[in-house]
Amino acid sequence: MYDFRPAPDCPKPEAYRQLLDAASALTTDEPDGIANMANIAALLWDFLPDLNWAGFYRMIDDELVLGPFCGRPACIRIPLGKGVCGVAANEAMTQLVPDVHAFPGHIACDSVTNSELVVPVLRDGQVVAVIDLDSPVAARFDEDDQVGIEALAAVLATRI
Ligand code: SME
Repeated sequence: MYDFRPAPDCPKPEAYRQLLDAASALTTDEPDGIANMANIAALLWDFLPDLNWAGFYRMIDDELVLGPFCGRPACIRIPLGKGVCGVAANEAMTQLVPDVHAFPGHIACDSVTNSELVVPVLRDGQVVAVIDLDSPVAARFDEDDQVGIEALAAVLATRI
């Protein structure tokens, strides 16, 4: 049985250290990227409070294509530069969005989403995927979340 949830009063940086250890343990020695993304999506869903979507879009032929996730069914293909995910992939830059309704071109896969964090996964300087977290809570994500998910993306770079 896996139970990686942090204690409710655990400070965020420490919680992310635990998340990273769990992610590393779950994916080490497993060469199948889809299996690893599936387990990491489940881990994020279980680990982080106040999410309505957690998962991956993969870069395939210069387009983002839906990967493993937890949450409601989502749009399958996102062109580069479109929406929060497309901008993150196009610019190879994290997008920390406190209010998605104020983000030009935001793609509303689920109307309950109010804030979003999208982190690119880079391998050899190329974006190979993005990690997308959505929340119904406005301004749900902060710099601790950004630093934590960027560290996760670095661990996953050669594992997905
Ligand atoms: N809102 C995202 C699209 C993906 S879904 O939220 C799962 C965006 O604007 O890129």
